[in-house]
Amino acid sequence: MELEGRVALVTGASRGIGAAAAVELARRGAQVVLIARTEGGLAETDDAIQALGRPPATLLPLDLLDGEQVDAVGPSIFQRFRRLDILVGNAGALGTLTPVPHITPKDWAEVVGVNMSAAWRLIRSCAPPLLAADAGRAVFVTSRIVSTPAAYWGAYGATKAGLEHLILSWAEETRTSRLRINLYDPGVVATKLRRAAMPGEDQATLRTPADVAPMLADLCGPAETRHGEVVRHPKR
Ligand SMILES: NC(=O)c1ccc[n+]([C@@H]2O[C@H](COP(=O)([O-])OP(=O)(O)OC[C@H]3O[C@@H](n4cnc5c(N)ncnc54)[C@H](OP(=O)(O)O)[C@@H]3O)[C@@H](O)[C@H]2O)c1
Repeated sequence: MELEGRVALVTGASRGIGAAAAVELARRGAQVVLIARTEGGLAETDDAIQALGRPPATLLPLDLLDGEQVDAVGPSIFQRFRRLDILVGNAGALGTLTPVPHITPKDWAEVVGVNMSAAWRLIRSCAPPLLAADAGRAVFVTSRIVSTPAAYWGAYGATKAGLEHLILSWAEETRTSRLRINLYDPGVVATKLRRAAMPGEDQATLRTPADVAPMLADLCGPAETRHGEVVRHPKR
């Protein structure tokens, strides 16, 4: 198994794409650490991992808007494993789809907080254990909305654009290191976030999280050479 013995941290692992990515990484041999707020969802992801005959995941139920808790993640992983091989920054918040002048301060704070600030703070916390790995890999989940701005998606789209810039800047800074850092755009996937955005859509016609997880997991392998790229799932 290509990820045997590797330690992987996945955010937004209580459901959707993050849960499927965590299961796929565990299936490939990784020891996974799971972050989200919903303990029941994290436990369900862990059940799916153990059903594959893999060791139990480490569950870190926390709110990514709590910066001090995020600060503690990297040091606690280093203390336990002495390194972090894989960081998957998948957690995302949609907010409310609405015209830009109508975005509320509460929604703005949540969407910016989860999609951008938490990514920066997680990188700050996890860079030392990632650099301690022999082949550290980081993948952050972005969206096609960045290149195709759409009415009412302003807050979400702006934060994904900011996320991409942040990650591509980090990739430039680490080009000569052992790290390989990329973004992954899964396209349209049947999840709770997508249902909130498109309530009338028949999700049975969409790709599932399990359909996209292998391509995301491919970016996490030690043999991966891509760096500073936005890797897109092919359109159907
Ligand atoms: N679905 C799509 O079509 C699509 C397309 C392009 C990009 N994406 C991106 O894919 C990623 C995963 O989204 P999804 O579609 O799988 O949505 P989802 O099923 O709603 O999952 C979102 C995940 O993020 C976690 N999360 C949200 N706020 C959090 C917070 N404050 N603290 C900790 N965890 C938090 C949620 O966990 P808790 O609620 O348990 O905390 C959940 O595990 C997101 O970055 C999204 O922008 C999705």
